[in-house]
Amino acid sequence: MDHTSDHTPAVHTPRDPRDIQDLWDQRYAGAENLWSGQPNATLVAELEGMRPGRILDVGCGEGADALWLAAHGWDVTALDVSQVALNRASERGDALGLQVRWLHAGLAEAELAPGSFDVVSAQYPALLRTDDAAAERALIDAVAPNGVLLVVHHSLPSVEQAAAHGFHPEGYVSPADVAARLDDSWTVEIDEIRPRHVSTGAGAHHTEDVVLRARRQP
Ligand SMILES: C[S@@+](CC[C@H](N)C(=O)[O-])C[C@H]1O[C@@H](n2cnc3c(N)ncnc32)[C@H](O)[C@@H]1O
Repeated sequence: MDHTSDHTPAVHTPRDPRDIQDLWDQRYAGAENLWSGQPNATLVAELEGMRPGRILDVGCGEGADALWLAAHGWDVTALDVSQVALNRASERGDALGLQVRWLHAGLAEAELAPGSFDVVSAQYPALLRTDDAAAERALIDAVAPNGVLLVVHHSLPSVEQAAAHGFHPEGYVSPADVAARLDDSWTVEIDEIRPRHVSTGAGAHHTEDVVLRARRQP
């Protein structure tokens, strides 16, 4: 799958939710398949073997993670700001006979019920940083007691390398931004950089993941 430097909202980073939606819709419309079509390795590594429950896939894109989760017994809500991506994802789900709740919304605008997911997964979600940390708070608030928050992003290039792609990494929510907002009702289980091996799709050039996994107290 993914990701950021070559696909993320770039140069003049949009702030208005409609502009963000338009940008991502255009990006998806410009490719038959933007990402690899395979579930993200970190998602699989972290959730394989866990008892399935309610999971929120934030920025689900073309749905490879959501469909893998549904196939493994999870009750999946998959949210994305791009209707083009969701159409593609739901068509694949229908073809596979898999049930997923596809939700067209920006994370901060979705008004998710607090504590309503056993796992919240955000895999390279490209969420804009805002002064009120709306995205970070929405991710954290959606996790149920004893639930898990899994945030994965690329290990970002230098500011100079990113600028060469017209991308400003400081404009986007990182796993560290989320970790910084976890209070003492959370345990950070994993906070590390891992090698990443993806050979197809627009994110194939990224070779490292930043992985945050945290659990809310029961
Ligand atoms: C880099 S892609 C990652 C897609 C998918 N998670 C994957 O790993 O292939 C980022 C996704 O986040 C979505 N996105 C961007 N801003 C969003 C927001 N505020 N709320 C929900 N989704 C958003 C984009 O439409 C895009 O599908």
